[in-house]
Amino acid sequence: MTTDPPGPTPTSPDPLSATSLDHLRSQFPILGTHTYLNSCSLGPLSHRAEEELGSFLHLWHTMGASAWYEHWLGRLDDLRQAVARMTGSQKGEIALSPSTSVALSSVAESVDWTRRRKVVTTELDFPTLAYQFTVKPQVELVVLRSEDGVGIDPEQFARAVDDDTALLATSHVFFTTGFRQDLARLARIARDAGALSLIDGYQGAGQLHVDLPASGVDIYTTGPLKWLCGGPGLAYLYVRQGLVTELAPRITSWFATENQFEFELEGFRYRDDARRFEMGTPALPTVHTALGGQAVLDEVGLEVVESRNRYLAGYLEDALESAGFHLRASADPRHRTAIVMVRHPEPARAVAELARDRIIVDHRPGHIRISPHVFNTTWELDRIVEALARI
Ligand SMILES: Cc1ncc(COP(=O)(O)O)c(C=O)c1O
Repeated sequence: MTTDPPGPTPTSPDPLSATSLDHLRSQFPILGTHTYLNSCSLGPLSHRAEEELGSFLHLWHTMGASAWYEHWLGRLDDLRQAVARMTGSQKGEIALSPSTSVALSSVAESVDWTRRRKVVTTELDFPTLAYQFTVKPQVELVVLRSEDGVGIDPEQFARAVDDDTALLATSHVFFTTGFRQDLARLARIARDAGALSLIDGYQGAGQLHVDLPASGVDIYTTGPLKWLCGGPGLAYLYVRQGLVTELAPRITSWFATENQFEFELEGFRYRDDARRFEMGTPALPTVHTALGGQAVLDEVGLEVVESRNRYLAGYLEDALESAGFHLRASADPRHRTAIVMVRHPEPARAVAELARDRIIVDHRPGHIRISPHVFNTTWELDRIVEALARI
């Protein structure tokens, strides 16, 4: 399945052996019928995720609600644990949330806006991040402009974040440029000004290996939908140990309280771990598909995932440029990831035409967005470059 026809030779060795790649590819049925290059929108479904979902449905059939106590509460913990392992953190630093937007709202509702009223963000971030603050009249939102349309110079943050800043709020990887920011640098800039760093990592964790405690960031959100191949309906919120108990979200639920199963109206006490940010019953089908997708990636190892993704993206970038296409990408390869943006006059039409050829990618204004993931092959990348050149 992965024997590539001859094409441009990559300059570095493939970090994954042909046998491991075959084994990995056999997990994802869609790869047998499509050239799937859109994991930054929706990661493909694996057999492993489907099996996990099947086991959930079986218990629903055979045990009904009693499965909650014997199985499902444990599965929530398994997922928090798996996310903690992936991010180098502790289970108590991870909360499950219905979406990134909800996770961000819980954070925005934890800040005392009377003490510091500024949030510094950028024009390249996914809008749901800024929206949390534009709807709060008490917040002054500072939006940094990109000088090259691809990334943000950390010095811009350093100049904007001051002693009136509550949050430095930005992405790990920008969704329309693939530009990877230096988390440790951002965390330091925020910390030096007495502010908190809030990182939207939806396009980070899963395509990149992350060690959140080592990076020093305070708060990080991500989720299973995209690079983690776990489906829609959940997000993950990391809150640094030591910060967790200082934050008291003003939107809450029965999952956030220590005495969840005592059903007392009085005596609400926040949990002393990140579950104090949880917002009600998590979507159990997604908990299961997320565990499945996570297991597939963990088996490969996120360090290998990251290096193979850059290997594939580098190959794709070279092939596109050789074919005369222009990329929207950082000049510095250390800032590049596996989101490859190709300039195009009619991106929507091109994406629809590619889909007719069973090549799945997506588009953002002025660009086709191609996101190879660890299981793709250089042959698939050749295929999209040829198809793009043809149309
Ligand atoms: C970087 C980033 N943040 C947030 C979102 C949206 O997250 P949600 O729909 O879970 O709120 C997306 C895309 O869906 C994204 O790419």
